[in-house]
Amino acid sequence: MDVVELGPAHTEALLRFFAGLPEGDLTFIEEEVTDPGVVRSWASGTGGGRRFVAVDGDEVAGYVAVRPLPGWSSHVGEVRLVVSPTRRGSGLGRQLARQALVTAVGDGLAKLVVEVVAEQGAALALFTDLGFTGEALLRDHVRDREGTLRDLMVLAHHVDDTWSGMATVGLDEALGQDLS
Ligand SMILES: CC(C)(COP(=O)(O)OP(=O)(O)OC[C@H]1O[C@@H](n2cnc3c(N)ncnc32)[C@H](O)[C@@H]1OP(=O)(O)O)[C@@H](O)C(=O)NCCC(=O)NCCS
Repeated sequence: MDVVELGPAHTEALLRFFAGLPEGDLTFIEEEVTDPGVVRSWASGTGGGRRFVAVDGDEVAGYVAVRPLPGWSSHVGEVRLVVSPTRRGSGLGRQLARQALVTAVGDGLAKLVVEVVAEQGAALALFTDLGFTGEALLRDHVRDREGTLRDLMVLAHHVDDTWSGMATVGLDEALGQDLS
């Protein structure tokens, strides 16, 4: 499936994508993705960061964002990733996460972090395989839409430390350079 940079032409499809996510999934996403104003600002490029969508015809099947943190953490990018429930388990999440990593390295970010709600086994497996490791466990940090408290894990990928590890996951090819 094609993964392309998010643009204004994807606005309505992205709105449909987020609106179609089940309530349970929305628990795992911090932003108000069902707010059309928020989604429109991302598609028009005014929301900051880099965003990509997996497109299948007129539909969006997955979304990933890398947003530099503000101020003294501006060298750190935060990753957000979500795949349509009907498309999961076929490698799309991995493809989008790799796109995020390639973009972050290309943009000169030194570190990536991703926040994963503790029960998200697929997300943990996916990011661990890409060289992310656990840096923090925040107990009872997330209150889901039903009011239940859940633990939040912060996984991190240090670009310099994992340079050679990245070569093993094929990012040297994606970046068009030899990282060894
Ligand atoms: C996490 C998420 C993006 C994965 O998307 P996906 O397209 O299913 O991912 P992939 O098909 O690339 O699978 C990647 C790996 O996850 C693991 N995995 C996939 N489905 C799994 C499941 N149901 N249980 C446990 N592990 C699973 C596997 O290790 C898989 O690797 P494999 O292909 O070698 O078997 C998707 O589940 C999602 O959108 N979740 C809600 C949002 C979220 O939690 N985002 C992450 C934090 S920002």
